[in-house]
Amino acid sequence: MPGVTDRVIVVTGAGGGLGREYALLLAREGALVVVNDLGGARDGSGSGHSMADAVVAEIRAAGGTAVANYDSVATEEGAANLIQTAVDAFGTVHGVVNNAGILRDVVFHKMTTDQWTAVQQVHLSGGYHVTRAAWPHFRDQGFGRVVVATSTSGIYGNFGQANYGAAKLGLVGLVNTLALEGRKYNITANAVAPLAATRMTADIAPAEMLEKLPPAHVAPVVGYLMSEECTDTATVLVVGGGSVQRVQQFANKPVLFAQPPSLDEVAANWDRITDMSGAEPGRNPLG
Ligand code: NAI
Repeated sequence: MPGVTDRVIVVTGAGGGLGREYALLLAREGALVVVNDLGGARDGSGSGHSMADAVVAEIRAAGGTAVANYDSVATEEGAANLIQTAVDAFGTVHGVVNNAGILRDVVFHKMTTDQWTAVQQVHLSGGYHVTRAAWPHFRDQGFGRVVVATSTSGIYGNFGQANYGAAKLGLVGLVNTLALEGRKYNITANAVAPLAATRMTADIAPAEMLEKLPPAHVAPVVGYLMSEECTDTATVLVVGGGSVQRVQQFANKPVLFAQPPSLDEVAANWDRITDMSGAEPGRNPLG
């Protein structure tokens, strides 16, 4: 199978954790990898070259091909530089894994606008900037692969992560439309919600649970989504610890009102409105 052989793939936030694992696997499978990492702390503060450089060295030592990039995905300029790094080194870009991320966890009633904005900028705007910069290359060559890192914190909610959950589910919204707009150009867009022991989860989940969640379990699914063979698009997968699970939106049979109902009529029908028995995969009624 052609897989990702000779594909130019940008992995953001690849200097550690899951991104490193994705970059190593993609390089082992024959991809030409751009290892992007700002090199800062878990909360997004600071920067440096050593994280990305170490992963590039690891890939090269194993006989693979990789270059480093240290730009922040949170700015349009940084993302443009990142995609230019791929073009300068390898001539084009075939895929982006939007993996870079930070945390600014805090309960909602204490959240500041800075904590909200910093998280949106790296996750949601970062996914936008990097994919937007790569998109013309994808269209021109009639091939592109996009993976975003979403999270069960967005899909289901998680205490203290309103900023992060909103950004992570925003990326699923991005993917849903990219899937539609990319279809005729052989561009796919999918989302992976990983579960893995990294610096991000080190103090969030219990040690016994983290032991069972090595990042290596997630990487093959990302690798497959980047491959030529995988033409599925707009799928959302929860992946970790040996489990790979698809998550999808379902909608029930609508309750119809010929006239705008009174509040009492809404209340009288509430059990039917919220009853999910017989629900089917949802679709956009305006699409
Ligand atoms: P991590 O903290 O090890 O990796 C994130 C990487 O992104 C770091 O190397 C960091 O330097 C880099 N980064 C941060 N801001 C950046 C920026 N502006 N530009 C470029 N690089 C930047 O954490 P982990 O766990 O590997 O997370 C990877 C992705 O997976 C994140 O998007 C995270 O939200 C997501 N995720 C992880 C889960 C887990 O169980 N570990 C659960 C759900 C989602």
